[in-house]
Amino acid sequence: MRTNIPKAKEIVRRGYNRISRRYHDDRGDGPDAKYDRYWFKAVDKKLERDSHILELGCGMGVPVAKFLSRRHAYLGVDISDVQIRRAKQLVPRGRFQRADMGRLRFKPSSFDAVLAFYSILHLPLREQKPLFKRIFRWLKPGGFFLPVLGWGRWTGKEKDWYGAAMFFSHTDQKTYHQWLEEIGFKVLRKALVRERKAGHYHFLCVKLK
Ligand SMILES: C[S@@+](CC[C@H](N)C(=O)[O-])C[C@H]1O[C@@H](n2cnc3c(N)ncnc32)[C@H](O)[C@@H]1O
Repeated sequence: MRTNIPKAKEIVRRGYNRISRRYHDDRGDGPDAKYDRYWFKAVDKKLERDSHILELGCGMGVPVAKFLSRRHAYLGVDISDVQIRRAKQLVPRGRFQRADMGRLRFKPSSFDAVLAFYSILHLPLREQKPLFKRIFRWLKPGGFFLPVLGWGRWTGKEKDWYGAAMFFSHTDQKTYHQWLEEIGFKVLRKALVRERKAGHYHFLCVKLK
């Protein structure tokens, strides 16, 4: 069935407005925190101080924005009003903008790194490859892209996810890998992180110089 894109995004926006605190308290110590720390620190180690970083679906800003904004020029974008409001309070050094990542536009070579932890999996699949292409243009040569993506082909709505309806959309890791390489990224590292019956694929990519 063809996804109604505005409706799907409204489910996500309302859902996170409702569950923001239930999903992550102000310390951001969720079940994924340990793995996420390893991956965003791996990107940080590759960057010079004061690099320009964009995070898509930044949530309430802890721990990723909090860590990266200490050393870099950080911009976080999220579709949820509540997530962005909390991020502004919790991470005063970061810049935050409420926006749909599928509608963002930046000049070419604006960023040294683009990160997206568990957020592109809420974007309707039809918009994902076009977004990867735009991210490729927004990155400087040598820039890094770190998306955490869904692990299998599925698009649909869950009625009760942390207490709200939620929309998800993803393809399999082989297709994601192919898309990223077709666009021009080199995949440096890829890992499946299992979570109960499901899991997520972490891809660390570079735009070659
Ligand atoms: C699973 S949460 C992850 C939040 C944060 N990255 C983390 O790891 O804690 C997904 C986030 O992506 C945001 N999101 C979903 N779809 C989005 C879109 N189209 N544009 C911007 N943000 C979006 C949600 O509002 C939510 O805050």
